[in-house]
Amino acid sequence: MFQIVNKKMLNNTVCEMDVLAPMVAKKARAGQFIILRVDEGGERIPLTVAGCDENEGLVKIIFQIVGSTTEKLNQKNVGDSISDFVGPLGNPTEIENVKNACVVGGGVGCAIAMPVARALKNSGANVTSVIGFRSKDIVILEDEFKEISNNFYLTTDDGTYGEQGNVCVPLERLLASGTKFDKIYAIGPLIMMKFVVATAKKYNIPCIVSMNPIMIDGTGMCGCCRLSVNGKMKFACVDGPDFDGYGVDFDEAMWRNNMYKEFEAKKREETCNLFKKEVR
Ligand SMILES: Cc1cc2nc3c(=O)[nH]c(=O)nc-3n(C[C@H](O)[C@H](O)[C@H](O)COP(=O)(O)OP(=O)(O)OC[C@H]3O[C@@H](n4cnc5c(N)ncnc54)[C@H](O)[C@@H]3O)c2cc1C
Ligand code: FES
Repeated sequence: MFQIVNKKMLNNTVCEMDVLAPMVAKKARAGQFIILRVDEGGERIPLTVAGCDENEGLVKIIFQIVGSTTEKLNQKNVGDSISDFVGPLGNPTEIENVKNACVVGGGVGCAIAMPVARALKNSGANVTSVIGFRSKDIVILEDEFKEISNNFYLTTDDGTYGEQGNVCVPLERLLASGTKFDKIYAIGPLIMMKFVVATAKKYNIPCIVSMNPIMIDGTGMCGCCRLSVNGKMKFACVDGPDFDGYGVDFDEAMWRNNMYKEFEAKKREETCNLFKKEVR
């Protein structure tokens, strides 16, 4: 069993937890993830390692409550335990030889982007962060990004905070004014990553994306997380989750991610309190 040591809500639907998992804390690096089950017989869900405290043996996870398992996890409190917490899985993000990086995060994707930005900063890179949200009330990790960024930009779609527009607005402006990056790292909704890749391509800058398809085993056995990259089949859990954005077939990935929408919506209606409150 893995005990929850700290818990904090970052906004109405995003929760941060520190879980006591010393073996994972010792090995995990930016870009890797864990698979957990809240209780025996529960569904396995992948969550990115948002940070580690090796001395205390703690692993930080930041998750959005979007359905039945994330809601069940959110019902746990400090002192409670979760039954399985397996990792680190996937490959660490490649940050070697990057001197000037741009990290682009969208929504809860910022929880995944944050450890990447921090690792780049710790490796001595100059880090520009561009983070975007739909609206002011769901902004997360602003102070954390500011602390580790040489340049920081925040956008909201509705203009209620920061600059109005999506993350591509400041990104395009920076690139058009001649700012050069060795690499752009984009992490967020598929549609956001697709457009960040298109912007990066216009200026011939390599763009890494972090893919988050449905996963079951996380070890390359079930085939559930397959993607097409440069026309070849890849498994996000063992070949990724990071890929060269230029090669990813985003349209196929979006189609595959929607395959279980109906089933998930039904499950949410049956089991998820947050969703029940919304429809009432
Ligand atoms: C490598 C990886 C890292 C991730 N890291 C984070 C993170 O740090 N924070 C965060 O909030 N979310 C993260 N996710 C997404 C997270 O796994 C899903 O939000 C979660 O599984 C939803 O489960 P649910 O039962 O609450 O919701 P459901 O109602 O079952 O599903 C809601 C949506 O979540 C996605 N989803 C559902 N089951 C899975 C699954 N087994 N694997 C992947 N996606 C699924 C689907 O897109 C679905 O439409 C990550 C996904 C992957 C693949
Ligand atoms: S999650 Fe099963 S192969 Fe990747």
